[in-house]
Amino acid sequence: MNLHLEDNLWHPIIKISKLKDGQKKMRRIGLRSIMIVREDSQVFATDALCRHMAWPLAYGGKVKDDCITCPLHQSKYDLKNGEVKEWSPFPLLPIYGRLLGSLRKPSPLVVHETREFDGWIEVRLSTA
Ligand code: FES
Repeated sequence: MNLHLEDNLWHPIIKISKLKDGQKKMRRIGLRSIMIVREDSQVFATDALCRHMAWPLAYGGKVKDDCITCPLHQSKYDLKNGEVKEWSPFPLLPIYGRLLGSLRKPSPLVVHETREFDGWIEVRLSTA
């Protein structure tokens, strides 16, 4: 019995060999944009757009200590669970970043399950 074929919830999204350590990629599953990140042999998958003002995090997002920081206003999310670590702290002076941050309530990044199977990184979409 081939469980992989019967489990249609897992989506092969990128070949393992195409995602090097430290790289981020954007992919689509249906209408949903997903960001895939490899850091220190862990693979994370999240929704692709920053929850603040929808910047695509794969473009310029900085990954460090299992977190990603958006390049636009530097909101920071935990890649393991999507938790907001900082919300729009940039720019500091004038208090423009904080003002922009107040335009939208902090909300976590949606995180998706990942696994490696048959040479591919696969993603199972969160229902959140
Ligand atoms: S768009 Fe990401 S912090 Fe503003």
